Amino acid sequence: MINKEDIARMLGEIRELQCKSAKEVEEARVRLLGRKGVITALFEEFRSVAPEVKRELGRPLNELKQAAQARIEELKAGLGEESAAGPREDLTMPGDNFELGSRHPVSIVRQEIVDIFRKFGYDVAEGPEVEDDYHVFEALNFPPNHPARDMQDTFFVSTGHPNPLLLRTHTSSVQVRAMESMKLPIRVICPGRVFRNEAISARAHCIFHQVEGLYVDENVTFADLKQAILLFAREMFGPETQIRMRPSYFPFTEPSAEVDVSCNICHGKGCNICKGTGWLEILGCGMVDPNVLEASGIDSRKYSGFAFGMGLERIAMLKWRVNDLRHYFENDMRFLQEFAAAPEV
Ligand code: DAH
Repeated sequence: MINKEDIARMLGEIRELQCKSAKEVEEARVRLLGRKGVITALFEEFRSVAPEVKRELGRPLNELKQAAQARIEELKAGLGEESAAGPREDLTMPGDNFELGSRHPVSIVRQEIVDIFRKFGYDVAEGPEVEDDYHVFEALNFPPNHPARDMQDTFFVSTGHPNPLLLRTHTSSVQVRAMESMKLPIRVICPGRVFRNEAISARAHCIFHQVEGLYVDENVTFADLKQAILLFAREMFGPETQIRMRPSYFPFTEPSAEVDVSCNICHGKGCNICKGTGWLEILGCGMVDPNVLEASGIDSRKYSGFAFGMGLERIAMLKWRVNDLRHYFENDMRFLQEFAAAPEV
């Protein structure tokens, strides 16, 4: 006999109804609402019950039918999406990461140096990587048999020629090109890639980067050189930085010096980066040799100048304590990603 309890139980079952396929949904529909379905049978029975039972059960019965129809539609819709486009999207999943690239440490240092010297009024100049002997050696006052021209150090592109082509071994060649082409006074900074025929190790590589600086004007003195380097070092390594100059020799400068900065890691106390000395060598420099000025057509009685050159890998090594030069060239993502967070400079 049709009764309230059965209707309530069925209503509960219908709300919980689950189907795994469209076929199962259709079977459930037939079982509940088909011509011989259980709900259809209840409606038939309902027609012949007493009027007071009708009053009591009319509404629950209609609710049951509506609930069954709604649940069947719901199940159909859910399965329809799944079969058309695979599993439904999980809207709570986090989005894909947008992978940011990172700048190479040598590029970061190069940009920092260029920006510092731009503030001091220097222009940026670049020259060819495949150079001739004249710009790399001869115009820079290298004596004809100087060992740096030797096959040991220089990659020659053409030989047997009075002015052979070669891969430049330093960016000092660009100061020659600047003196040839720019109007005086010249204040120029020349970043670039250089090449030397060296066995690759933690401390040497056949490709590396330098920045060359040149200032030529009337009355340029060694004091100006020292001041320029000091200001640069303080911008680059911090306002407390001290510099020290040691006498040295380069064919293209006279006098020549090598410059050390105070170790900003141990602040002079001595650590393994500065090998206990409290000082780190960063560049070579000097007053441009009068022969070099004259070779490029500059009157050395009227003009004087200073020049300096530094290795970018070395500066980056000091800045980030990189202990092996080879890291710079191996494109190992684990190394390169270390610089992803380096500030935009
Ligand atoms: N060209 C030198 C080198 O390759 C570096 C250098 C030293 C450049 C002294 C200069 C300088 O302009 O004055 O190591």
